[in-house]
Amino acid sequence: MAKKKTTFECQTCGSRYPKWQGRCPDCGGWNTMSEITLVSDKPASRTWTGSGTGEAVPLDSVDGGNEPRFTSTIKELDRALGGGIVEGSAVLVGGDPGIGKSTLLLQLLQGLGRNGLKTLYISGEESPRQIRMRADRLGGPPEKLLVQSEVDVERIIASLEKHSPAVAVIDSVQTLASAEISGSPGTVSQVRETTARLVSWSKAKGMPVFLVGHVTKDGAIAGPRVLEHMVDTVLYFEGDKGHPFRILRAVKNRFGSTNEVGVFEMSEGGLLQVDNPSALLLSERPQSAPGSAVVPCLEGTRTLLVEVQALVSPQAFATSQRTTYGAERSRVQILLALMDRRLDYAMVNHDVFVSVAGGMSLTEPAGDLGLMAAIASAYLDKPLPNDTVYFGEIGLAGEVRAVSRPDERVAEAAKLGFKRAVMAAGQAEKTPPPKGFELVGVKGLEELAEIL
Ligand SMILES: Nc1ncnc2c1ncn2[C@@H]1O[C@H](COP(=O)(O)OP(=O)(O)OP(=O)(O)O)[C@@H](O)[C@H]1O
Ligand SMILES: [Mg+2]
Ligand SMILES: [Zn+2]
Repeated sequence: MAKKKTTFECQTCGSRYPKWQGRCPDCGGWNTMSEITLVSDKPASRTWTGSGTGEAVPLDSVDGGNEPRFTSTIKELDRALGGGIVEGSAVLVGGDPGIGKSTLLLQLLQGLGRNGLKTLYISGEESPRQIRMRADRLGGPPEKLLVQSEVDVERIIASLEKHSPAVAVIDSVQTLASAEISGSPGTVSQVRETTARLVSWSKAKGMPVFLVGHVTKDGAIAGPRVLEHMVDTVLYFEGDKGHPFRILRAVKNRFGSTNEVGVFEMSEGGLLQVDNPSALLLSERPQSAPGSAVVPCLEGTRTLLVEVQALVSPQAFATSQRTTYGAERSRVQILLALMDRRLDYAMVNHDVFVSVAGGMSLTEPAGDLGLMAAIASAYLDKPLPNDTVYFGEIGLAGEVRAVSRPDERVAEAAKLGFKRAVMAAGQAEKTPPPKGFELVGVKGLEELAEIL
């Protein structure tokens, strides 16, 4: 009998080496090598995964109209997908454990079922009974929803052939396996090859497929990056498990903008669509408390009002602490240095804690002004006015800079009953204020400190 051949495969990038190494020469990852047994792989990744005939045709003979789409029945999901489900598209949904990926996709199939479409939910993680229990909690399973516990990709494809559902969900790609591919389930080569087979099958048949992908500690979809290249759309389901707020963000979309986000609230009965996210985000805002400021941020084509909170206390240990949740630490450090130098606030010997409420994150530079207002308010122990929002980027010279789409930020604030916006001076002059709304322009930090 021939000796079994093995090789070492990096579980981050998928490179293979004849010998074990502590560090992958390709991607530089430490301790990422696993030994896998080689079988003669069918090279699925070299099979055609696009849609079309594979023949060269004159481009002007190609139909240039919009891709045929149909509604997912979930408005916020349609929005993240760029206007509905595209026929034959492969959508990868990634997110932290327990964030609600299975819930979202089961709700999707239930909604499609209510529209009379036949769907198939394949799970390698949960039993049909568990799925049934979840479906009951989400409002009962429709008749046309089939479930199957299966991890073998050949059997999954056979089942898809047999039932030809309108939409299928595979939960999750990390559980997929094939006897024809090297490595145990979950290894990079297995995830890559089995996903490639499913995607090329769904393209050939024009059947949309939703794939669940787990996320690693550093937030990438586990398995090789190449997974993101294989599919048409990559959605990340984000949020903080302690909070009900969830954002579905398109990070790649061959059929639409990647600027779109869907907003949900996790509840007992599943994910609810949120019509007014700003109101939900601000619902627990303390009134007249020092250290709280509201920032209108852009999320895709939307504006959300987000509350920033800061706590400043005399330094407790030998070095002062800077802790941030939802805001970039390095950004906060720059702002603190500026306040120290230019406003004579003694930030050096204070501990500073910054948190963005609702499990949201503030990644836009436009958040600078709000961050600074919250920190200054906490430091001075004086509450900011309840009816004011803050937005603007702060430069290293302490100048306040213009940011994109000020009119939309102001409009959202006005809609939620705010009466004032503090913003870059140049921009305040050019933006027409809504009725009964005041725009306060500031040129630099000193001016901001004055009005606080
Ligand atoms: N009985 C329940 N009542 C209310 N909420 C529940 C209940 N069971 C689960 N949940 C909510 O659903 C969430 C789990 O959702 P779901 O299983 O869809 O997540 P997931 O992203 O698929 O997780 P995993 O990565 O583990 O598969 C829980 O974190 C919880 O918020
Ligand atoms: Mg799940
Ligand atoms: Zn590697």
